Amino acid sequence: MRVALGVGGGIAAYKSAELARALAERGAQVQVIMTAAAREFVRPLTFAALTGRKVVTDLFPASSESEALASAVEHIGVAQSNDLLVVAPATADLMAKFAHGLADDFLTTLYLAFPGPVLLAPAMNTNMWRHPATQANLELLRGRGHAIIGPEEGELACGMTGPGRMAEPAAIAAAAVNLLNRKRDLEGETVLVTAGPTREPLDPVRFISNRSSGKMGYALAEAAAARGANVILIAGPVHLPDPPGVKTIKVQTAQEMRDAVFANLEPATIVIKAAAVADYHVANVPQQKLKKTAARISIELDPTPDILAELGQKKGDRLLIGFAAETENLRQEARRKLLTKNCDMIVANLVGQEENAGFESDTNEVVLLLATGSTVSVPPSPKREVADRILDEALKLRLALHAAR
Ligand code: PMT
Repeated sequence: MRVALGVGGGIAAYKSAELARALAERGAQVQVIMTAAAREFVRPLTFAALTGRKVVTDLFPASSESEALASAVEHIGVAQSNDLLVVAPATADLMAKFAHGLADDFLTTLYLAFPGPVLLAPAMNTNMWRHPATQANLELLRGRGHAIIGPEEGELACGMTGPGRMAEPAAIAAAAVNLLNRKRDLEGETVLVTAGPTREPLDPVRFISNRSSGKMGYALAEAAAARGANVILIAGPVHLPDPPGVKTIKVQTAQEMRDAVFANLEPATIVIKAAAVADYHVANVPQQKLKKTAARISIELDPTPDILAELGQKKGDRLLIGFAAETENLRQEARRKLLTKNCDMIVANLVGQEENAGFESDTNEVVLLLATGSTVSVPPSPKREVADRILDEALKLRLALHAAR
């Protein structure tokens, strides 16, 4: 695996050193290209030491005329000798240049000459990320089929909090490996995925919800799309960009999620319910904001529709995969859900305890309980890798279930 790693000029450039090492650890030969701005943050020597290769910095670095000619066509050589172009951090400036075909340095020239897959890891200030110009450029780049990872939400170097932080190096390296090993084993399938929380209103300005970020469900949608599936993603309120090539439907409440699932169920061959659907809602939401008084108040809650249980009754030939988020008795509770909701697989994860699993984190640790009676443990891994394991096991399970019929 030969990877050209373009490093843009942002504070996240220091994380790209870790990315270079993570790629090398996964067996990649890494050729680093640094923009002039990137060199203001990290010295090329850092990357040269980590990759064992000279870092490309300039389009015209040489002094003699023949050397200048050789370096002027070097971007073509780099373009032809690498399997994947990863740009991390992909700054707002680089995204704009890529989107519009501007080529005024080595990296932007290489981008135009590069025929293979491209993975971009944007990182910038929250306002820059949200600016309509950046979002329009993002859409152009997605439309070209480039893979985009991140940015994540969090506290940024500029002091703001919001989306803009570069994805973690391990997650970018995993996405790079996935892009290159892309299997097309889900071609012809339609995968319906639910993701994120639901929001159940208490009054016009308040709601009940939970900590789901949508990362697990989005990782499943992205993994299925990368493997050739037609993907329908039904998502509650999350702060993640719509995955490229995926039909994304946004909902708020459990009832809306239920209606969207059944309105889109017909073409689905695999249904995966990663959403953290609220179990209760207020049946009659007051029209006006609840007034604060000194008195204790109680709110009556009714159960929401159990979408997974209804799917279990109506699934037909579809493969139905539910999740179980438990704080105790993980396997026992997951087994109960597998049977009572007529699922083919339950993805069980412990929540509320581990920092690197369950809600919000970029990684997860799960146990897959299969209708065949077997279980598969997936060790702590980036959610995208967990998603691929779930899809691998789903395909094997379908073969096993068909053979058993
Ligand atoms: O979104 P992230 O931050 O990445 O976090 C991922 C996750 C922890 C949300 C995810 O891995 C996960 O566990 N999702 C399921 C959460 C959940 O609601 O679990 P549960 O055990 O309460 O529900 C069991 C199953 O029934 C789930 O498939 C759920 O989608 C489904 N359900 C629940 C209630 C309801 N009214 N309708 C449903 O369909």
